[in-house]
Amino acid sequence: MCCGIIGVLAIDGGSVAHVIRESLKRLEYRGYDSIGVATKYNGRLYIKKDKGKIDEIHRKLNLDALPGDIGIGHTRWATHGEPSQVNSHPHTDCKNQIAVVHNGIIENFLELRKELIERGHKFKSATDTEVIPHLIESFIEDGYTLEDAVQSTLAKLHGTYAIVVLYSHLKKLICARKESPLILGVGERALYCASDIPAFLPMTNKVLFLNDGDLAILQGGEIQLRRIQSFSSPIQIRKPVLIDWTPEMAQKGGMPHFMLKEIHEQPKAVQNTLRIRTEEIDRLVKLLNEANEIILTAAGTSYHACLYGGYLFAKLAKINSQQIISSEFSEKIGETLTDKSAILAISQSGETSDTLNAINYARNYGAKISAITNVVGSSITRSADYFIYTLAGPEIGVAATKTFLVQITTLALLGLTLAEIRGILNNSEVQDLRQQLFNIPKLIEQVIEKREDSIKVTADLLAHKPNFLFLGRGINTPTAMEGALKLKEISYIHAEAYPAGESKHGPIALIEPDFPVVFIAPQDNTFDRIVGNIMEMKARGARIISVTDSRKIHDLSDHTFWVPKGVPDIFTPLVNIVPLQLFSYYSAVRRNHNPDKPRNLAKSVTVL
Ligand code: F6R
Repeated sequence: MCCGIIGVLAIDGGSVAHVIRESLKRLEYRGYDSIGVATKYNGRLYIKKDKGKIDEIHRKLNLDALPGDIGIGHTRWATHGEPSQVNSHPHTDCKNQIAVVHNGIIENFLELRKELIERGHKFKSATDTEVIPHLIESFIEDGYTLEDAVQSTLAKLHGTYAIVVLYSHLKKLICARKESPLILGVGERALYCASDIPAFLPMTNKVLFLNDGDLAILQGGEIQLRRIQSFSSPIQIRKPVLIDWTPEMAQKGGMPHFMLKEIHEQPKAVQNTLRIRTEEIDRLVKLLNEANEIILTAAGTSYHACLYGGYLFAKLAKINSQQIISSEFSEKIGETLTDKSAILAISQSGETSDTLNAINYARNYGAKISAITNVVGSSITRSADYFIYTLAGPEIGVAATKTFLVQITTLALLGLTLAEIRGILNNSEVQDLRQQLFNIPKLIEQVIEKREDSIKVTADLLAHKPNFLFLGRGINTPTAMEGALKLKEISYIHAEAYPAGESKHGPIALIEPDFPVVFIAPQDNTFDRIVGNIMEMKARGARIISVTDSRKIHDLSDHTFWVPKGVPDIFTPLVNIVPLQLFSYYSAVRRNHNPDKPRNLAKSVTVL
């Protein structure tokens, strides 16, 4: 999901540096904060890497000048360690003989790093990846072959990885994957391994897909496959598949737009975010729990995440909090902040000026500042006392989709810990809810798999409507607001959201026959009242679209976006927002708008 990796072995002995650079350019959509290339020539490794975009770095360092007919490359989306020269991949061992590029997260890297340092290894970076070349080095020192050293190293890692290993003494690439993507390309003149097809598509369309747990050895013109878990003999090589995508289609995973690809990536993004280290959650919870007041602040979609956080903290941990739109922060909060106030700012980009401004305002009063962001090293991380990174990977589509889901996932993790340390829930209740939270990625996947087609049909039918009303209650009020924002920003259909109970205080005046009203209606404690709201709208001829797990609501609706039953009330927004994202996407497409680049909007808004 985040970071792009590539390995190239030229069978014909041609030089590979420019091939690697061009491949990285085509993988830039997977990450773009740093770039690095390593090649092997005459028994030594040559490495160039730095922070920044590939074209800039190439202008500065001339990547194509690296010598050799075998090499690896990496385009980074930071998860551990700020974007910087030393943190850029490839990472090497003490003797600069082993270079590794990695995509994924090594969860036990701190323990491994400590052990290696005690045994005399010298580390240069703050990354989780660097433990890998050092571990391989130590196994090679113990007399292992390169492939056995890699395999033994992988056996020690907890977490996720796709790696490619280059060794100064052999014209051989070892690559392996566990829960991160890695595929092989079989060309006439070269073999490739990469995170994704666009990396090598102009050179070959013959793709060999690796299974989770596979390790591949590329040498000469040959590929050998093994299972990481077993040192026994090689497994049978699968037949390459012929791909008929254009490189542009391939960048979007064969999907027509990044937004759709990113909606489909949500199960994985949530799963990754659920892996945020407990210590990180605990530290932020401590900061919030010690405060006299908690204020969540953000803009746009991230503000909707704040609203979710407000309901969640109250319901789960009995904590009252305020949520303030960042551009209103100073006006709304006035001079009331103290050094006992805790601010939790949420921003996927970490660069939104309104949010940074709110933080700076709060800092003047000595308030404690924490942040949730998806971009490592972004400005918000420098303004906050403490921050957590969500793990969605880069989001290219301007409309926030997967970054919203990972924000509310992080809030759910914070809420559970807050509830436990405040004694509102006991440990087994928390564990039970945590278990159910960990099941959410599967449920999101089900919604996408089973419901996408029928949502598209509904969008095709309703995309000509000029106005929509979105209504929800309780913790799904923010879901309604986010659903309406998505629809208006990419399809340019006017959409408004309200708490359903508020609709009778004004918005109901808009309703005339066939006016579309979207209800988010799970079977929670608000159910009977939302049924009442649906009846009020139906009585005026509204066309009802519902996101629900209830047959009763389905029977009252003109269109139903089904979601799975049995999700704990507090987590339903994680599932309920997904059909609304798809509905917005297909409405925009139906109206011939490009959902990836809505007019007048930018991915990060750096003006006040
Ligand atoms: C909506 C959207 C915007 C952003 C807002 C804040 O799809 O993308 O509303 O949510 O501009 O951006 P961040 O989260 O980067 O601070």
